[in-house]
Amino acid sequence: MEATKIFTESDREEQFLARIDAGEIIEPKDWMPEKYRKQLIRMMSQHAHSEIVGMLPEGNWITRAPSLARKASLIAKVQDEAGHGLYIYSATETLGIDRQELVDQFLHGKAKYSSIFNYPTLNWADIGAIGWLVDGAAIVNQTALAKCSYGPYARAMVRICKEENFHHKQGYQILAIMMQGSAEQRQMVQDAINRFWWPSLMMFGPSDTDSPNSAELMRWKVKLYSNDELRQRFIDRTVPQAEAIGIKLPDDKLKFNETTRHYDWGEINWDEFKQVVSGNGPCNKQRMKARKDAEVNGHWVREAASAYAAKHYN
Ligand code: 3HC
Repeated sequence: MEATKIFTESDREEQFLARIDAGEIIEPKDWMPEKYRKQLIRMMSQHAHSEIVGMLPEGNWITRAPSLARKASLIAKVQDEAGHGLYIYSATETLGIDRQELVDQFLHGKAKYSSIFNYPTLNWADIGAIGWLVDGAAIVNQTALAKCSYGPYARAMVRICKEENFHHKQGYQILAIMMQGSAEQRQMVQDAINRFWWPSLMMFGPSDTDSPNSAELMRWKVKLYSNDELRQRFIDRTVPQAEAIGIKLPDDKLKFNETTRHYDWGEINWDEFKQVVSGNGPCNKQRMKARKDAEVNGHWVREAASAYAAKHYN
């Protein structure tokens, strides 16, 4: 009788890598290396935390939008971000971890969120800068993730990218209109870009040589491009947009390189990046307090929803 082949862990890993190399999509019920699952939980939950925290700097300006149309557009954007967070938490739960556990990790400082949301929004031009730069950077990153190897994450990105495009356009329009306004409005825009340009580049993570997770994530086709490749892609598409509306990006080294066909650019302040990521940014404490207060003040809503669900859906 033919001995049944006992698949060892390494056999399974070999088969898994063959599936990745063949461009197959991994689904929740498929076998996957524990490290693949853990890396996805880390990356996806941090993405979800970022979406929720990202509502805070923008939500700050809903009551101060300059017109009803701008208010409606900003409310829609902030609501979208909440939905993106919930969407990505749901996708993360397919990996066998409970959403509350993910949120607790965040609230106890055991999980990160994007550094970009630790900068203050000082005026209305900042809302344009966030839409244009931050959501623009997100689009570059998330369109790549929409082709990643983990099915639920890739599919979540497809819908999210459609909404990001609206976010990006409304932000760029805010700036374009202000750049046709008064000298004060043009100065307000330039000041916002001066403050948000470099932190937006930091959204793509440390340089490739300092990225401990990238090699593994790229082997598993979770990341299809490196941090620096995506950053370069964002710069290449954003510089012409800035020039089109008269914005000067705060980098004297920005210059189109006819040989590489990409923009050369200056050096990111990695000390600032490390400071913000480790909790010492301008608004880290404020953001964490807001999220902790929301967790406490929103407890009764979650309790009521669970009680209703238990009564009506079990
Ligand atoms: N802010 C905070 N932490 C950052 C960071 C940033 N901008 N960039 C990197 N880090 C952290 C990483 O989480 C990692 O720490 P960890 O191992 O403790 O988690 C460490 O710095 C080293 O970075 P790596 O490059 O090794 O980490 P990754 O391979 O995970 O790459 C990433 C970082 C590019 C952010 C990647 O995780 C990623 O693409 N995540 C999915 C997209 C995402 O999270 N975007 C955040 C913005 S959300 C957003 O854009 C909302 C939109 O609506 C505006």
